Amino acid sequence: MKHHIPDHVIEDVRLRADLVQVVSEHVQLKKSGKDYKGLCPFHPEKTPSFTVSAEKQFYHCFGCGAGGNVIKFLMDLEDLSFIEAIRKLADRVGVTLPSVSPSPHEREVQTEREMLYKLNTLAMEYFVRLLQNPEGGQAARAYLGKREFDTAVAERFQIGYASASLRDLTAYLEKTARCSRAQLEKAGLAKKREHPQEYVDRFRNRIMFPLKDARGKIVGFAGRALGEEIPKYLNSPETLLYKKSQHLFGLDLAREAIRKEDSVLLVEGHFDLVRLFQHGIANAVATCGTALTALQIGLIRNYTRNVVLVFDSDAAGQAASRKGYDLLLEQEMNVKILTLPQGHDPDSFLQDEKTEKFMEQVRNAPPFIESYIKETLKQENIASPDGRIRVVNRVLPMLGGIKNHLERTEWIKFLAEQTGVDAGTLLAETKKNLISAGKTKNVALPPPRAADRVDPAVYLIHLMLAHTEAARRIREQVTLDDFSDPLARTVAGTLFRLVDEGFPVEIGRAVDRIENEEARKLLTQIGFQLIEFENPIKAAQDCIRQIRREGAENKIRELKTQRNKAMEEGLAERSRELQKQLQMLEHSLAVI
Ligand code: UTP
Ligand code: MN
Repeated sequence: MKHHIPDHVIEDVRLRADLVQVVSEHVQLKKSGKDYKGLCPFHPEKTPSFTVSAEKQFYHCFGCGAGGNVIKFLMDLEDLSFIEAIRKLADRVGVTLPSVSPSPHEREVQTEREMLYKLNTLAMEYFVRLLQNPEGGQAARAYLGKREFDTAVAERFQIGYASASLRDLTAYLEKTARCSRAQLEKAGLAKKREHPQEYVDRFRNRIMFPLKDARGKIVGFAGRALGEEIPKYLNSPETLLYKKSQHLFGLDLAREAIRKEDSVLLVEGHFDLVRLFQHGIANAVATCGTALTALQIGLIRNYTRNVVLVFDSDAAGQAASRKGYDLLLEQEMNVKILTLPQGHDPDSFLQDEKTEKFMEQVRNAPPFIESYIKETLKQENIASPDGRIRVVNRVLPMLGGIKNHLERTEWIKFLAEQTGVDAGTLLAETKKNLISAGKTKNVALPPPRAADRVDPAVYLIHLMLAHTEAARRIREQVTLDDFSDPLARTVAGTLFRLVDEGFPVEIGRAVDRIENEEARKLLTQIGFQLIEFENPIKAAQDCIRQIRREGAENKIRELKTQRNKAMEEGLAERSRELQKQLQMLEHSLAVI
């Protein structure tokens, strides 16, 4: 996070702003023991699982896992950047932020961005006016009318029309915004022609969709040809504001609904999205012809984990969604797929059918993986061993991408049922692939409180939070490599840094130093389940010993496998070498 406000000022703001008070403005809180509880503002629920610690100034939702401190709460709830949240809080608690002076380069970029926003806004207004112009906009209005789009939805999306003439917009913006032609080119609104050398409007004779970021600021445009011109859609080039791979069309209008419904429909085209809105379906965004990217998924993930892919039934759509699926799994999203009848996209489907019929399909959309397995089965002949092998080879790598162990196992069983291949064999095969790909990950937390059932790495985190001296000892004696779970390692790393910098090890202080959301959730969850230690120092020593022991035991197991393999392969020298290492380890284990 790049900003110019010193850490101690941020600390000051955080400590003065009372989390309970801030949360209370958005959530009805009830006292429950030392803590407060209310309905989580980040996911729909009927019984309160959103818990706030007044004493330690952090929150955690036991329903959706959301967690953080007062800064994070404002960021998520009001969709503010870190710096915006700090500003807001500083205002409220009466802390004056030091005036920040950006570098000359930063200032230049900032000025340029503002200019581009301004040009885009003026262009949008120009296009909208032209669409409404009795003569000039007639053909475009007729086009929208023919496709049965109503005026209200066009206005909501601020759809407009770019005239067929060469330099209408360029001339207008030069005059109104007093900008140079080069700036218009940088905004992606004009382009330079070689013969004759001149600037002309980039978008001509097209229906214009302004492309906006999540906050509704216009970053670029897409223009749909009125006829059969090529390309059918012309998009802004990549500019300072518009990055194709980071954009989702409609997110500004959809994000509230996505959060409320806790799910998003992902469609392909601009008009698909507009059609959904016309039919009152607002929890949807469009990828606009790009293959789904990790950055786009990241945008969605701010609002929900549940995605329904609504794609054409054609092959391209299928391939696009398969690739997208891997990325979605990567970010642990739940993915369903709605396959429309042949030849339909959401736009044409809703034009022909009732909204309710579409919604029914959304509700009944199967998990992506189920539909993929069934499609694969249709394409192969599973009566033959060859066919079965091909199905398994196509599906297993995908199942390996499912991070949740339980879910993965269930789908492997499903694949076994469908193909008649033995489930045990499939499980073993997946495990092998997972290990070689380094994908095994243990995210599930063991049930807390009963200290003896807690994973030792997580237990160490409990200890560090409970007792500063224990934290110092752990810091000295344990390395991050001892934390095999990557989330626990991230949390521990942050706590270690607090120790190193001489801060008390507190959750409220640690949470906004953790960028990984899952790790943050782990930390705030632990925060509400703290174990009472009678003798934290001794507990820490015991736990460190146990972790070392487990580490050594794992290593011994691994060495044994390698040694046996070396013996089988007749590599006498190598197996002797391994045997020596083994003995040394076994000795050291005895003294741990
Ligand atoms: P489609 O070819 O499926 O068009 O492209 P569509 O969405 O059905 O468009 P209409 O209904 O005929 O108006 C899907 C999406 O791919 C992008 C656009 O975002 C389009 O909505 N696309 C398509 C382009 O960016 N450029 C093109 O030339 C074509
Ligand atoms: Mn279409």
